[in-house]
Amino acid sequence: MSTSLYQCLIPALNLSNAHKVCEVACGTGNGVPILLNHLPSDAEIWASDISDEMIAKVNQRQLPRTHTAQASNDALPYEDNFFDRYVANLSLMLVPDASAMLREAYRVLAPGGTAIFSVWGREENSTALGYFEQACREVIGENFAKKRSNFYLNNAHETMRMATEVGFQNPHYFYAASPMGPIGIEESVQCYLDTPHLAGIKKQSEENYNRIVERLREIVTEMDRRNEILMFEGVVIVVNK
Ligand SMILES: C[S@@+](CC[C@H](N)C(=O)[O-])C[C@H]1O[C@@H](n2cnc3c(N)ncnc32)[C@H](O)[C@@H]1O
Repeated sequence: MSTSLYQCLIPALNLSNAHKVCEVACGTGNGVPILLNHLPSDAEIWASDISDEMIAKVNQRQLPRTHTAQASNDALPYEDNFFDRYVANLSLMLVPDASAMLREAYRVLAPGGTAIFSVWGREENSTALGYFEQACREVIGENFAKKRSNFYLNNAHETMRMATEVGFQNPHYFYAASPMGPIGIEESVQCYLDTPHLAGIKKQSEENYNRIVERLREIVTEMDRRNEILMFEGVVIVVNK
């Protein structure tokens, strides 16, 4: 899902004249080769993530012209105005304080630079993630409902407003959708089993975990009967400094 979203970010980033790219919350580094592919041959990428394990995975890839750092999105180890591009694929909705992350993005980006933030899109168009939240709400109920939904930034106008509040200009947005392919019921359920969200729930309660998996299997079976394919949609915010 995130790889296909990276591909959608490329036209909006105008990488052909970029030199210094900041990628935050880079995960395993999936996006770095995609960005490198579109950058001039002397451009460099600074990829960071809060997780040591993720950074170790990026380092294992031995990617050219790529510097890595373990850092939180709201406290980046870079000078002011250092980058001409800033990329945050699927992380703004995860940090405790989205405005603090936006402020830090603004600080490290040079005037004239472009920043891009993608977040989970509309729940009805993101069945791959929406069904998971639905199953959790149904099984765990109140406690899960109290937790902030990862869809909470999917109102593009509100998220653009937050970005302009910290100083960004010229906000634009688009929705980008990707299908997960007709992968069948068991493989669809398997996609959920591999997520850190479900692993976290399993740690807390084996019983809830089993009930959520069962509910997901029912939901996915119903979806398959309707001949639907699991979908993911991101909403992408593009701004300038
Ligand atoms: C959904 S993954 C996205 C990874 C990558 N950008 C992609 O699209 O494949 C979210 C990533 O955000 C990282 N993350 C979560 N909170 C963070 C924070 N406060 N600062 C930096 N990274 C964070 C996680 O470690 C994880 O690698």
